[in-house]
Parts: sequence; structure tokens; C-alpha cells
Amino acid sequence: MKFLQADKLLSLIKNRRSIRGFLKTPISEEIINMILEAGRWAPSAENSQPWKFLVIKNRDIIKEIAKTGLGGFVLKRAPILIGVVSNIKPSAKENDISTYAGDPEKHDSIRLMTTHLCCGLAIMNMLLMIHSLGMGACCVGAIDRDFAKQVLGLKEKEFLEILISVGYIKKNVSRPTLRKELKDITCYIN
Ligand SMILES: Cc1cc2nc3c(=O)[nH]c(=O)nc-3n(C[C@H](O)[C@H](O)[C@H](O)COP(=O)(O)O)c2cc1C
Repeated sequence: MKFLQADKLLSLIKNRRSIRGFLKTPISEEIINMILEAGRWAPSAENSQPWKFLVIKNRDIIKEIAKTGLGGFVLKRAPILIGVVSNIKPSAKENDISTYAGDPEKHDSIRLMTTHLCCGLAIMNMLLMIHSLGMGACCVGAIDRDFAKQVLGLKEKEFLEILISVGYIKKNVSRPTLRKELKDITCYIN
């Protein structure tokens, strides 16, 4: 088995930018599947895989959701959206191996946070796959989630974590972006 080339991976991570302008070029099923596969193989707590992926192509639905928030313009420009939906099932079972199983309230709130965290990992895997395919994507959280949930026909216990606009890049209209210095966000506990 070949080892991953760490410098290439780092450069892929560093060069990914949120893309907000897309060509109308359709995206093949093969490409969509590669993106979804990257999400599917993300790690998750107790391998719970608490996610569902929606591939949204319906223009009327996209326009409807786009009306509801500042993020709408990015949604409308993309040929497809990938919605990441979590299934919130807080259950403090007695035999649950989780740390807070004995305290149902704490257990449920930690489980909820962990669910969001797991979905974030799946989202990141997909963003990197999209970037590595030479395409662009932007996470869009600035929408009315309750309204979007209704339009998308989600169940009561489902939560729309994010919508990702996905497409071929029109022109690189990504905003300049900075990162905090490593020394300012890192602490060694020796
Ligand atoms: C959870 C989340 C929600 C976001 N929501 C929006 C959004 O609603 N509209 C938007 O234009 N960008 C959105 N973004 C993109 C961020 O603005 C962007 O990731 C950040 O500015 C860093 O830029 P970069 O992705 O180009 O490195 C979101 C990103 C994340 C992770």
C-alpha cells in the first residue's frame, strides 16, 4: 500500500476555498457518488454514522430555500446542493457505553454535540473531495433551517446541519481568507 503524500494533502487542505460562483455544467452521477462516498467514510462516535445526505437538484426547491437567508445567493448559483441531515436520537440507555450514560440529561446533550461533530467530519471529507476533483463548494448555514426542513420534507427528529453548494467553478471569486497563527491557537501540555 502506498503511503499518503502528506505535503500534497496539506496543500490540498490549504488551497481549498469556499467557492460562490458556479458554471451551469451538470455534475455526473459518478462525481456525485465520489463526493458522497467521501462523506460516508468519515469517522463517527461509536460508528453511529448519524447522517443522511440529500442531493438536491430541483430548481424550485432550491429557489424556495434560497429566499430565506443571506446564504440564498450561493445556493441559487449552484447546479446541485448536498444537504447533510443528522438524525437526533438522544437515548440514554442503561447499557450505553458512553461516558455520561448514568446522567440522561448530560448524556443527551453530549450526544447531540457529538452528532453535530460527526456531521462536520463528513462535511469536511466532502469539501476536500470536491476540491480534489477541481470543483468548488461552499457550506451555507445562513438559511432558515426550519423552513428548509419543511420544504425538504424532513422528519421531526431530523436536523439540517448544512447545505453545500456544489459545482464547477465559474471564476475564482473566493474571498480572501486568513487563518489565526498556529502559535495563537496551540497549547502544548507536556
Ligand atoms: C458551518 C459553516 C457555515 C457557513 N455558512 C456560510 C453562508 O451561509 N454563506 C457563505 O457565503 N459562506 C458560508 N460559509 C463559508 C465560510 O464563510 C468560509 O468557510 C470562511 O469564511 C473561510 O473561508 P474559506 O472556506 O474560503 O477558507 C460557512 C462555512 C461553514 C463552515
